[in-house]
Amino acid sequence: MTEQKIILSGMRPTGRLHWGNFTGALENWLRLQDTYRCHFMVADWHVLTTALDRAGEIPDNTREMVLDWLGAGLDPERSVIFIQSRIKEHAELFLILAMHISLGRLERNPTFKEQVKDLELKGEISFGHLGYPVLQAADILAYRAAAVPVGEDQLPHLELTREMARRFNNHFGEVFPEPEALVTRFARFPGTDGRRMSKSLGNTIEISASPDEIAAKLMPAYTDPGRQRRSDPGNPEICAIYTWYQRFLPNEAERTAGECRTAARGCVDCKRLLLAGVTDFFAPLRQRRDQFAKDSELVTQIIEDGCARARAAAQQTMAQVHAAMGIG
Ligand code: TRP
Repeated sequence: MTEQKIILSGMRPTGRLHWGNFTGALENWLRLQDTYRCHFMVADWHVLTTALDRAGEIPDNTREMVLDWLGAGLDPERSVIFIQSRIKEHAELFLILAMHISLGRLERNPTFKEQVKDLELKGEISFGHLGYPVLQAADILAYRAAAVPVGEDQLPHLELTREMARRFNNHFGEVFPEPEALVTRFARFPGTDGRRMSKSLGNTIEISASPDEIAAKLMPAYTDPGRQRRSDPGNPEICAIYTWYQRFLPNEAERTAGECRTAARGCVDCKRLLLAGVTDFFAPLRQRRDQFAKDSELVTQIIEDGCARARAAAQQTMAQVHAAMGIG
């Protein structure tokens, strides 16, 4: 049997996952489990870089996110599901990699620059925040991952990871492969207001939402603003509802677009149909999630087991790092 390629990816635990997280990442992870040796990480230390004041929420958010993962079908037998802060090797590797990247390079990281602007951080930037991509590189390189499934916004971090791996290898010999990015489709998934679905914009629908909760958010959701009256023809290309059809009811998408353009179907009916379909789509995920939520011992066991497997792998890498450097 040929050795399976190693994959690592992570998400910050900030609460229940939404449809955007599902299509943008989680669904991709599900598929990758068939072909790769997958490591899926709760990036809890990364939350501290931008939300130190909400550190108290991390344990609950971690639990909720792992439930979302398991409910969606991440398989703890095949995949290693673990928590970053439980594997101290990440911190050691972070320190070592920090010597392999310049301050200027980190300051030019576009993701960082954007966050500083969005969060209005000006004089309040922590050393840890600037080092976000170094910690991410440690996450990836600790497992010598060959590939990292990420959204497009993470590409600069992958590039930085490759740079640090290259520099380390130049100094100390080949220890790390340079990981490639596996960019997800459906990267820009619309929220209930037509803008990108994002928790900070308050336009999300959660994967674990009940049928009533889905209805409450879906029925008033954004459609083509040019379609004022029932008799007006609509433009599905700019309608969030249509994108949701494409994603969750692909067999209905073409007919939906046609009936929208000719005004044969009104928006309310269109949403009702989608509501029924999307409720069915997520029902098995919710059911499985509820099952796991009822068995908290089992979830704890899954996490313990994942952390043990992750730790063993990271320790092997660190043994190579120590040997290469002649210290540690
Ligand atoms: N920065 C990633 C995000 O915000 C989360 C993350 C942390 C990650 N460590 C990682 C993703 C390692 C991939 C690999 O989405």
